[in-house]
Amino acid sequence: MAILPIIVAPDPRLKVKSTPIDVVSEDIIRLMDDMLDTMYAAPGIGLAAPQVGVQKRAIVLDVSMGEEPPNPFQMINPEVVWTSDRLFSYEEGCLSLPEQFADVERPDKAKIRYKDKSGQETLIDVEGLLSVCVQHEIDHLDGVLFVDHISKIKKNVIMRKLKKSKKSSQNVV
Ligand code: NI
Repeated sequence: MAILPIIVAPDPRLKVKSTPIDVVSEDIIRLMDDMLDTMYAAPGIGLAAPQVGVQKRAIVLDVSMGEEPPNPFQMINPEVVWTSDRLFSYEEGCLSLPEQFADVERPDKAKIRYKDKSGQETLIDVEGLLSVCVQHEIDHLDGVLFVDHISKIKKNVIMRKLKKSKKSSQNVV
């Protein structure tokens, strides 16, 4: 159990396509447990391995709210195998783009195939916030951020703010 440092945009490590995981080794299981700890501590509802500097196809998420019991997912090599035509709009944020938010439209429903921690192939139906969150995290594995889905103008405003805050936090150190 460990809290890992989260990479903040802009950073070239967030723009890389991650490689599939062939073997669910103990290192991968430890990585995914650490990612879950890191996500809960942040706090956030999803985290992808490249955000903690590991360019492998692993994501974690938990979209349970308030008093609901925790419902964590740890997905290896997740893939979107079907999406609905109907879209769902949600104001997305990202632990790698702190304090930045924008409305993004994505398919409301999806079927996701992934391997769980025991190496078992799993197929699940997701919708609403869970669908948004899984799609957002899978995007990270392809070097795509939520700002890549919005207008260039809005994206530039957000990226400029992030660059500025990165510079000023470096000055403090
Ligand atoms: Ni994100």
